[in-house]
Amino acid sequence: MHMEMMNPKKWVFNLLLPFLFIRFCTSIDTLTPTQFIKDGDVLLSSGETFALGFFSPGISSRRYVGIWYYKISEQTVVWVANRDRPINGTSGVLSLNRDGNLVIYDNTRNSTVWLTNVSTVSYSARLLDSGNLVLCQGDSGSGGVVWQSFDHPTNTLLPNMKNGFDRRTGLQWFLTSWKSRDDPGTGEYSYRVEPNEFPQSIGFKGSTRLWRIPLLLKPSRNDEAKTTASSILNATYVNNRDQVYAFYTPINASTLLTMFLDEFGSLKLLTWVGKWVEFYSFPGDQCAAYGRCGAYGYCDSNNRQDFECTCLPGYEPSSAEKWYLRDASGGCIKERKALSMCGNGEGFVKVENAIIPDTSKARLLMSLSMNDCKDECLRNCSCLAYASEAEGGERANCITWYENLMDVRKFVRRFPEGGQDLYVRVDAVELAQRRGIKQKKVVVVVTSIVLTSLLFIILVGWLVMKKRRRGIDIQDSDEENMELPIYDMVTIVGATNNFSNKNKIGQGGFGSVYKVILLFLTQSAWNLWIDGKAFELIDPVMEGSFPMSKVLRCIQIGLLCVQKCPEDRPTMSSVVLMLVSDILALPQPKQPGFYIERSSKEKHEHSVAQSSPSINEVTMTHLEAR
Ligand SMILES: *[C@@H]1O[C@H](CO)[C@@H](O)[C@H](O)[C@H]1NC(C)=O
Ligand SMILES: *[C@@H]1O[C@H](CO)[C@@H](O)[C@H](O)[C@H]1NC(C)=O
Ligand SMILES: *[C@@H]1O[C@H](CO)[C@@H](O)[C@H](O)[C@H]1NC(C)=O
Ligand SMILES: *[C@@H]1O[C@H](CO)[C@@H](O)[C@H](O)[C@H]1NC(C)=O
Ligand SMILES: *[C@@H]1O[C@H](CO)[C@@H](O)[C@H](O)[C@H]1NC(C)=O
Ligand SMILES: *[C@@H]1O[C@H](CO)[C@@H](O)[C@H](O)[C@H]1NC(C)=O
Repeated sequence: MHMEMMNPKKWVFNLLLPFLFIRFCTSIDTLTPTQFIKDGDVLLSSGETFALGFFSPGISSRRYVGIWYYKISEQTVVWVANRDRPINGTSGVLSLNRDGNLVIYDNTRNSTVWLTNVSTVSYSARLLDSGNLVLCQGDSGSGGVVWQSFDHPTNTLLPNMKNGFDRRTGLQWFLTSWKSRDDPGTGEYSYRVEPNEFPQSIGFKGSTRLWRIPLLLKPSRNDEAKTTASSILNATYVNNRDQVYAFYTPINASTLLTMFLDEFGSLKLLTWVGKWVEFYSFPGDQCAAYGRCGAYGYCDSNNRQDFECTCLPGYEPSSAEKWYLRDASGGCIKERKALSMCGNGEGFVKVENAIIPDTSKARLLMSLSMNDCKDECLRNCSCLAYASEAEGGERANCITWYENLMDVRKFVRRFPEGGQDLYVRVDAVELAQRRGIKQKKVVVVVTSIVLTSLLFIILVGWLVMKKRRRGIDIQDSDEENMELPIYDMVTIVGATNNFSNKNKIGQGGFGSVYKVILLFLTQSAWNLWIDGKAFELIDPVMEGSFPMSKVLRCIQIGLLCVQKCPEDRPTMSSVVLMLVSDILALPQPKQPGFYIERSSKEKHEHSVAQSSPSINEVTMTHLEAR
């Protein structure tokens, strides 16, 4: 007797009748316990945006109960009830049973195919214009909602649908792909929010991570870090005591938007413009594949002609050969393993606009200022990196990492994920080098130790004279005025661990002599020589400018000149001979002097802060004149 459930074909004939019933009974969008929907009938939402009924996907003949866009010509199913229990034939019926559960019954087999299975009694099922099917207590839906389809997503995330989890009930809202276009059965791909201290959205194949979208607590104020998707949708992330979830709404309410996980595991954002067009699909590029560049790697898809993978500051490929063959799966390892990063002049290098590392084992500290966050990380020697959501003097979330910095990549302006500055802990040498690079803008790396040895002497002389004159008081602004060709004051301070006595190796007639970065250079030159990789000393910028054999020869001569035993070192005249002659056989160099076996742990005496566009500021303690 009720007209609420209609075959679309009958709709025209029944155009006039419903009005009478809507007045007296319930509205067209509601199913009550006395009514049922059989195959061919539909329930329409009040604004006729969505329809609920039986359908067959693609070329399949099996029948499913689902929700789809009513006004759109292309069949677009957004939710499926009995996705894993289809019905053969048109004998299915959807109704509310005696205890108020919604059930799909197969009349041919006399069996229940699907049911909502809630214990609270409900009196009506209503299809909302948002696409949500809700079971309500009370006749007119005046009571509370006891069940809703939005709590049981299939492969589609409609606007205002939650993606996340409820801490109290353990309920998870996540997407699972269809098996195929013709089979809405539970597929192997899923898209879910991981319940970590700092939650993140992950695309899975089974339990394998395929891609990752870190959630951000607030949209970036930086236009550069805004996504193009933010021009059409407003993504919101909620993290409170009870729930963690993300949802989105269209910026323009009249834009039809949908997000779905397709049968190949891609998350697609579609807009309707007379047909569905793909606004964006994730993963969109190689870098979005989870852990593309391994642990401590960094992926930049703009680098594609070259190789999108590099290492984070202070790290180098774990296997140069594999890296050369563009296999970055082994990731990166610390460059100077022996050099401690624990109270040894270390600091942080900023990686701008990055997608932060996997947060599954990260720690979240709330309400810290940018500086507190840095200190928090610096204080704990196992802290490898931090990121802060604080800007200026405000207090906000601080995230710190302690192991495998995984899946760091350059932010791309396309999807609702934000770019953030990541601060990676580096040793004093790395810090000093980056500082030098920043100031000179050009990478100048010494190709011959003969050259550096000379420079070293000049430097020490200059240093000592300057120190004699007025003590050493270095301000950041002074750096610009320094005229040193390669190593500036800051570099030396970093490398000598701020002129600590530990690093003082001697005291001559004209002042102290410090082990500086050049000594590190000698050390790395020696190590590389021993490993037969001396060519790695040459800066890539200069590669190809000189014949390799000549350069290697220079390095060998340099190493001969800095051997530990003065008796072993060649005389000046033989050095000249070695330099001018290409055929004169050279002896194998022995271990150089000033060789540092292992640096010792020390309390850090200065703090290294950050804020400049890409490299750290270095704050120096005052050193009084002797
Ligand atoms: C539906 O039909 C297929 C074969 O056509 C059969 O394998 C399957 O068991 C049937 N399912 C039900 C629920 O009757
Ligand atoms: C289903 O129930 C009807 C009526 O109770 C009965 O006639 C029919 O044989 C049953 N069918 C099956 C498959 O059990
Ligand atoms: C309904 O829920 C109860 C308790 O959660 C569970 O034990 C039962 O198996 C469920 N029934 C169905 C048909 O899913
Ligand atoms: C985005 O959504 C949030 C939460 O619904 C709302 O507070 C905010 O005003 C919205 N912003 C825009 C630009 O629509
Ligand atoms: C929203 O979109 C509709 C249709 O595309 C357009 O007519 C309207 O001007 C838009 N409104 C705003 C505020 O942009
Ligand atoms: C450093 O942080 C790790 C990870 O949170 C923690 O297990 C360890 O106890 C911390 N160490 C110190 C000295 O605070």
